[in-house]
Amino acid sequence: MTTTLLRDHDLAAAFDRGADSYDRLVALNPGYHAHLRRSARRLQLPGGGAGLRVLDLGCGTGASTAALLATAPAAEIVAVDASAGMLARAAAKDWPDRVTFRQAPAEALAEAGVTGPFDAVFAAYLLRNVTDPDHVLAQVRDLLAPGGRLAVHEYTLSGSRAHRAVWAAVCRAVVQPAGTLAGDRDLYRHLRRSVVDFDTVGTLRGRLRCAGFTGVRALPMPGWPTGVLHTLLARTPRPGETV
Ligand SMILES: C[S@@+](CC[C@H](N)C(=O)[O-])C[C@H]1O[C@@H](n2cnc3c(N)ncnc32)[C@H](O)[C@@H]1O
Repeated sequence: MTTTLLRDHDLAAAFDRGADSYDRLVALNPGYHAHLRRSARRLQLPGGGAGLRVLDLGCGTGASTAALLATAPAAEIVAVDASAGMLARAAAKDWPDRVTFRQAPAEALAEAGVTGPFDAVFAAYLLRNVTDPDHVLAQVRDLLAPGGRLAVHEYTLSGSRAHRAVWAAVCRAVVQPAGTLAGDRDLYRHLRRSVVDFDTVGTLRGRLRCAGFTGVRALPMPGWPTGVLHTLLARTPRPGETV
């Protein structure tokens, strides 16, 4: 069966509808929050984030925001999402004053008043959802200070048949039945398809380099998502540094 990927307004509307069940569904994924915290730690933000501005791009219901806060409790965190429903769930949770939420599409951050410089950007489960990842990465690069850090936490397959089969099995056995029961069938079909259609980890590394990032590395996740979920780390060049 072919599944059409959801994009832009249709995707934001699907996340609006899925917002109420999102936290319950991700709780079925063993390690969801621990994996986010691992990627956030991999940013290696110094001093608990004191004096740093960090952007959580595609913050959803705030799971990635909480992961950032755990690793950088002193940072100022700006959490942005296109879906009003997801943001409402996030904003209803308890946060320190240093955490603020903004509704904006990743494609038009400056227009929505999200301005840099940021010391770090965390993009968790966002990039395969956007229509033009290169455009979004170019914006992220421009929002980061020189030497600013990027962590992309994403389902991005290794390219091996075995890891592709793991993803298909997880979707068939857990993701799609649970999503259908929750009434969000289209969103979780989109999830399965968007991962299959998106970059392999090697392609995504190249995409980051082409977008002007340096020090690009991909780190695997332990446990069941090995070869399925990766943290890609990169930074913007410092003055005088060539990419
Ligand atoms: C799978 S959720 C991940 C949420 C959160 N980062 C987490 O780790 O739980 C993806 C989020 O990206 C948001 N999103 C998708 N496309 C977007 C876009 N173009 N601009 C801003 N947010 C977007 C969705 O609304 C959704 O909340």
